[in-house]
Amino acid sequence: MKILLRTKLIISFLVVIAIAGTVATIVGLHLISTGVVNQAQEKVNMDLNSAREIYETRLREIETFIECTTLRAFAVRNALKENNRELLLGALRKAMERGKLDILTVTDNEGRVVLRACNPALSGDSQAQDEIISSVLQNKKPLAGTQIITRDELLKESEELAKQAQMKLFPTPMAKPIQETERTSGMMLKAAVPILDDDGSLLGILYGGVLLNRNYEIVDKTKDTVYRGAKYKGKDIGTATIFQGDLRISTNVKTRDGKRAIGTRVSEEVYEKVLGEGKTWKTDAFVVNEWYLTAYEPIRNVTGDVIGILYVGILEQKYADMRRTTLWIFLGITFVGAVIALVVAYILSNAIARPILSLKKGVEAIADGDFDFEVQCKARDEIGSLTESFNRVRQQLKELYGKLQGKIEAADEDLKEVNKMLREKQRQLVHSEKLAALGTLAAGIAHEVNNPLGVASMYAQMAQKDVEKNPSRLPQRLETVVAEINRGGQIVKNLLEFARQTEPAIREIDLNGVIEKALAIVEHQAGLQEVKVVRQFSSELPRIMGDPDKLQQVFVNMAINAFQAMPDGGELTLTTGKASDGKMVKVEITDTGCGIPEEYITKLFDPFFTTKETGKGTGLGLSVSHGIIEQHSGTIEVKSSVGKGTTFIILLPVKRPER
Ligand SMILES: Nc1ncnc2c1ncn2[C@@H]1O[C@H](COP(=O)(O)OP(=O)(O)OP(=O)(O)O)[C@@H](O)[C@H]1O
Ligand SMILES: [Mg+2]
Repeated sequence: MKILLRTKLIISFLVVIAIAGTVATIVGLHLISTGVVNQAQEKVNMDLNSAREIYETRLREIETFIECTTLRAFAVRNALKENNRELLLGALRKAMERGKLDILTVTDNEGRVVLRACNPALSGDSQAQDEIISSVLQNKKPLAGTQIITRDELLKESEELAKQAQMKLFPTPMAKPIQETERTSGMMLKAAVPILDDDGSLLGILYGGVLLNRNYEIVDKTKDTVYRGAKYKGKDIGTATIFQGDLRISTNVKTRDGKRAIGTRVSEEVYEKVLGEGKTWKTDAFVVNEWYLTAYEPIRNVTGDVIGILYVGILEQKYADMRRTTLWIFLGITFVGAVIALVVAYILSNAIARPILSLKKGVEAIADGDFDFEVQCKARDEIGSLTESFNRVRQQLKELYGKLQGKIEAADEDLKEVNKMLREKQRQLVHSEKLAALGTLAAGIAHEVNNPLGVASMYAQMAQKDVEKNPSRLPQRLETVVAEINRGGQIVKNLLEFARQTEPAIREIDLNGVIEKALAIVEHQAGLQEVKVVRQFSSELPRIMGDPDKLQQVFVNMAINAFQAMPDGGELTLTTGKASDGKMVKVEITDTGCGIPEEYITKLFDPFFTTKETGKGTGLGLSVSHGIIEQHSGTIEVKSSVGKGTTFIILLPVKRPER
């Protein structure tokens, strides 16, 4: 496949940009997740500490406030000592109001309730079994902590408080499935302080607390101090929650309709980790209806049991958006880069390809024989110097070509001259050869025809004399004259045959029949000479196309030659058959005669070549036969060994090829 330089360049640029863009995007996204998101998660973890601090501070505040109340208010002590309930109630209510407490209660030194600020009507029940109270009774030291308060205990304080704690459970996706539909107990920040007499003996206990259910003070304070109420797309970025067990009892996470999501529960995963295993849990989690980066940690009671969870979380959407924005920015940069790369590659490839293209044109021009095509290139780079070299080479080629052209033309002239000379020489040679041949021919003819003419002339003269002296010998003389003249005539006829080479009269013939006829003409001679004629004719010989008279003459000539080679008798064998390839028929004429010496073989078919004495042979038989066989598109060959015999092999085509 042919890829243009420009395409290659553009592809290379795009590949580089694509790789760089992909790497940049991956690195960017990685940086955002590891850097920014991890930092955000880190911050959430710190926020959890802040939330814990706020929670603990509130607890200490309650404790300190109650402690101060007992220390400073003589009224409380005296009223307790004197059992002045009215005075005591006044003092408690005032303190409760100032300390923003939900309950404030005094017990005696055995933990029996003396007076409840919320419900003065109910007293005398023991709180000694309460884990905080019992500890204070024992140690005479203040103690604060988080505690689950049953509905019965809440009802003792006030119906309102029980109602505040009572909470319907909403179905929450991913939460641990449970049967409950409502929770009536509450969770409280509670502190108890011993009331000591001047001598240090325990007069009683003052305890108070704040119910956390539906009390948003801590979570909102956390949101305001830690996140300063920051919002993203109308939603609070930071959120905080207090869970009683797995139940949201105080939160600023909102449901879809904008209400605080109390009554919903924590996801099962967090439940297992934080409530089950008592571990801190930090992750990105689906909270109510949004994704948050979150941190959860257990809230424990004074005996160390996990009774709730403190949670902070920040909206993940901001970071997801950031990641998306980054992705788009990187993709945008990659795209812009690709466009710029395309333009640059286009310009660059043009700048490179143009001079190369004109060089190509230049080379093509030279290939077409145009040496005047000058390639222009102003560039001062490698291509520029290549162009310069090219133009130099072109110039040299042009000069060389010019010189070569001159040489070729000169050589052409010489060649023409030589050709002319050669033709002249050839003509002369042919002429002299012709003359020589003609000379030989003429000498032969003269010699051959002269003989019978001489004899005829001599006998005619003898007849002339016989007319007067011996007329009875006249017929004999004249017979000889006629015979000699006939012999001369036969020679002339043979010559004519050789010279004219008349066109054969072709028709379909049976070669066996032709040979048979030829033998009939010469066979009487065989009897005289004691030669045995053997016929080995093939009965399946294909018919051939040929002139029967001419072919008959060939076999007559052959047979006569054979007879003449066997003056003391012998055997003449004629064999016919198909040649090996099936396209030819083969005739072999074999005699057991004197044979032909090696040096004669090449001259055998020349006209007038004969070894026979004058009057017996003219040397035309074989040359005439050769001509006839050639006319039939056949071949004639000879194999001979002196003293043993000779074989002539004639091949003739089965079907005469089209002319
Ligand atoms: N069968 C043969 N055996 C031996 N020699 C042969 C045979 N056939 C031809 N020749 C030799 O080839 C010579 C040429 O033969 P060719 O038939 O052309 O002429 P010729 O027989 O001499 O004369 P012509 O055939 O004209 O009467 C012969 O003189 C003879 O020496
Ligand atoms: Mg002959």
